[in-house]
Amino acid sequence: MALSSLLLLLLLAAAHGAAPALGLKRSDFPPDFVFGAATSAYQYEGAVAEDGRSPSIWDAFTHAGKMPDKSTGDIASDGYHKYKDDVKLMADTNLEAYRFSISWSRLVPRRGAVNPKGLEYYNSLINELVKHGIQIHVMLYHLDFPQVLDDEYGGWLSPRIVEDFTTFADVCFREFGDRVSYWTTIDEPNVGPIGSYDSGIFAPGRCSNPFGTTKCTIGNSTVEPYIAAHNMILAHASATRLYREQYQAVQNGVVGINVYSFWTYPLTNSTVDLEATKRYQDFMFGWTLGPLVFGDYPQVMKKNVGSRLPSFTKSQSEFVKGAIDFIGINHYYSVYVNDRPLKEGVRDYAADMSVYQRGSRTDPATSEYVPTVYPDDPQGLQCVLQYLTEAYGSLPIYVQENGKASANDTLDDTDRVEYLKAYIGSTLDALRNGANVKGYFAWNFLDIFKFLAGYKIGFGMYRVDFDDEARPREARLSARWYSRFLKNNGISAQSEVDDTGHHAQQ
Ligand SMILES: *[C@@H]1O[C@H](CO)[C@@H](O)[C@H](O)[C@H]1NC(C)=O
Ligand SMILES: *[C@@H]1O[C@H](CO)[C@@H](O)[C@H](O)[C@H]1NC(C)=O
Ligand SMILES: *[C@@H]1O[C@H](CO)[C@@H](O)[C@H](O)[C@H]1NC(C)=O
Repeated sequence: MALSSLLLLLLLAAAHGAAPALGLKRSDFPPDFVFGAATSAYQYEGAVAEDGRSPSIWDAFTHAGKMPDKSTGDIASDGYHKYKDDVKLMADTNLEAYRFSISWSRLVPRRGAVNPKGLEYYNSLINELVKHGIQIHVMLYHLDFPQVLDDEYGGWLSPRIVEDFTTFADVCFREFGDRVSYWTTIDEPNVGPIGSYDSGIFAPGRCSNPFGTTKCTIGNSTVEPYIAAHNMILAHASATRLYREQYQAVQNGVVGINVYSFWTYPLTNSTVDLEATKRYQDFMFGWTLGPLVFGDYPQVMKKNVGSRLPSFTKSQSEFVKGAIDFIGINHYYSVYVNDRPLKEGVRDYAADMSVYQRGSRTDPATSEYVPTVYPDDPQGLQCVLQYLTEAYGSLPIYVQENGKASANDTLDDTDRVEYLKAYIGSTLDALRNGANVKGYFAWNFLDIFKFLAGYKIGFGMYRVDFDDEARPREARLSARWYSRFLKNNGISAQSEVDDTGHHAQQ
């Protein structure tokens, strides 16, 4: 190929944020950058009524038939029984790290009671990972709130949660902290409360008219999401302070929080659309990170939400400010944002944001929180990483979830390989532009139960056959590609890497 057309191709690829994918290598990343994959407890473990685990709100929700396909996590990927084989698969896949979450109601089924069988399970899982040299990243809480505490005082809606969460975190730090150095407290505190208390699509399924996607009889969509998120921030800060005071000096670990992230493009360059984009970012990131980095919610949230937004006292503000060692992000898509005048009358989170959004320039706008289409946009991840580095004091960032959903069960998931390559390439672009990004976790290591979709779609690099009682695992092309990409920590001759993964050995 003539040099000029090669250059043109490279420039075109660069414009789409995909240049590194042409020759993406593990060794392009620093040695201390970590590549892994992830799951979460309710979605992976199953064994919901075994060995002393008490129910979580997701057991009640799925058993009430609230999933579109009426599915439950009763067996899920059967990880509770198959974790040893799975860790072996992780080692075969050359994973450098694994991110999983702890089922609170398995480890602490009732206040004050540590479940010996729960303790044994997580100790064994952690020991397996240590044995295979896989770095451990623990998510303390991933949506599966203990039913017993929800029944007692309404869970995240009560400030009483701060003490219970801190006690749960204390058990984890004390029991596992000798082998675990990376702790994330809460998954998506900027989305979970909306699903749980505004639209009602997540357990415990509370909402009020006209905001719920289903007709709720209990809840208050306009205030409860803000109260729950507020208590999550206080609970996170409390656990982080505890770790710093009692464990960090000896265990040398770090504690962060996770936020869901869209990248946001202004639909036009008009002043109001640029402001709308900034407002969206403040509502999405600033809701959680504003208090933890600067000690308070963004000004625009205080203005638009008014008295429905809880406030921090001076001492609470000092308590939460700086209680964060790193930011974890979950990232999949970008949205285009334009201004929508602030609606008079009763508003929820989406209305308070006062924007229209869409998944592509040409899509019809929606005022809802979730657009209808989501084209892949690898460059969006680079933008998020650079934005967070600049806007929130250059804290280390881990991409804790990124991956491609598919309803196609095929092992030949070339689209997922392309997706992972492009988004890892975009992460490299961000790193080269100065973003303080330290790790990347593919979502998911294997097929699991989906909070919104049950078993209808999968993200897994390993296929799980949910129709077979034995839940057998089978490598997809993406698992083989990732394995080759990570081989020998990137030290091996890179010419061995087959870009498609097709001829890779397992
Ligand atoms: C929700 O709470 C707000 C503030 O307390 C109150 O004004 C409103 O009437 C409540 N809405 C519902 C549906 O209960
Ligand atoms: C807005 O301005 C930026 C920077 O000049 C440009 O890259 C972008 O294409 C413009 N967007 C639109 C929708 O005109
Ligand atoms: C699933 O993917 C395979 C391999 O890419 C393709 O051949 C097949 O047509 C797809 N099936 C559906 C239903 O899209």
